[in-house]
Amino acid sequence: MATGPIVTLTINPALDKSSNVDRIVPENKLRCDKPTFEAGGGGINVAKAIHRLGGNPIAIFTIGGPTGQRLHKLVKNEGVETMVIETKQWTRENFHILETSTGFQYRFGMPGTEMMPTEVRAIIETLEELDPKPSYIIASGSLPPGVPIDFYSKVAQIAHKQGARFIVDGSGESLRSASESGLFLLKPNITELSQLVGVDKLEMDEVDDAARALIIRGQCEIVVVSMGAMGAILVTEDQVEHIPAPPVQPVSTVGAGDSMVAGIIWTLSQGKSLREAVRMGVACGSAATMNAGSELFKMQDVSKLMDWLNRYSKRYSATM
Ligand SMILES: Nc1ncnc2c1ncn2[C@@H]1O[C@H](COP(=O)(O)OP(=O)(O)OP(=O)(O)O)[C@@H](O)[C@H]1O
Ligand SMILES: [Mg+2]
Repeated sequence: MATGPIVTLTINPALDKSSNVDRIVPENKLRCDKPTFEAGGGGINVAKAIHRLGGNPIAIFTIGGPTGQRLHKLVKNEGVETMVIETKQWTRENFHILETSTGFQYRFGMPGTEMMPTEVRAIIETLEELDPKPSYIIASGSLPPGVPIDFYSKVAQIAHKQGARFIVDGSGESLRSASESGLFLLKPNITELSQLVGVDKLEMDEVDDAARALIIRGQCEIVVVSMGAMGAILVTEDQVEHIPAPPVQPVSTVGAGDSMVAGIIWTLSQGKSLREAVRMGVACGSAATMNAGSELFKMQDVSKLMDWLNRYSKRYSATM
């Protein structure tokens, strides 16, 4: 069992500002409730989720200006250890509004702010100088402008040197480029998997072959394809397993993917089997859908869903 810390990397974080309004009407002045603020960004969510599961991850992220300071404080308030890289540009603010008369959520995402080459170098140096060396590095989220598209593949090289397992949860060209460097685990949804294998669309019965192609090409060791309400497919060189999502009443699916990555990696870091880790990932992802907004999972929901998955697996693995 690896002993170093689990490190998450968020290079394009956001300060998420949420409020409610009765009705969205064009031209009118819309009177919103007092806003609430939350830390946003893939890797930050993964760190929060691992912390909730009982781990002590280190969240590495960029911060700029007063919005960045607020973001930093919010992450620290969660009890998560942080390492930050300061940027000249202010951290972006995303804006979420709930229309209370309809229950519709509107989520406005602002573009990431431009990073300077010195700032990108500072992130690389921070990773290179980690002491003790990490056991896992999880990079999640998009790249802001100014960051080279092969940034995650540079991080992959650092992870290799440090003996850390590297996981990327992203999309598009930056994900494809990262996978060229050989990753430990990928958790694409079907759209991201299609991008990785270079096709427009994948049918359900093509998913395991597509995932296996990534492994054969040496792009990663393990692929967990997440499929929303249909659960996930675990693919390794010699194993394919479908893990169904337990029956839940989804309220908001925001943060499901990040919760899933957290569940998988936390469980693996505890020396448990890959199958158990992916079940835990599904339990965390599905539990996250039971809460409103970007609220992650509750531990009691994770335990209940994990029990359901263990019972399901016992009943059906005997017949497979
Ligand atoms: N509607 C749902 N019902 C039950 N479980 C769900 C639902 N949506 C997501 N999940 C759970 O969360 C996991 C990850 O969700 P999903 O496949 O939507 O990931 P994603 O596309 O990466 O999401 P994100 O938008 O958070 O990046 C699923 O494998 C499943 O366990
Ligand atoms: Mg995702």
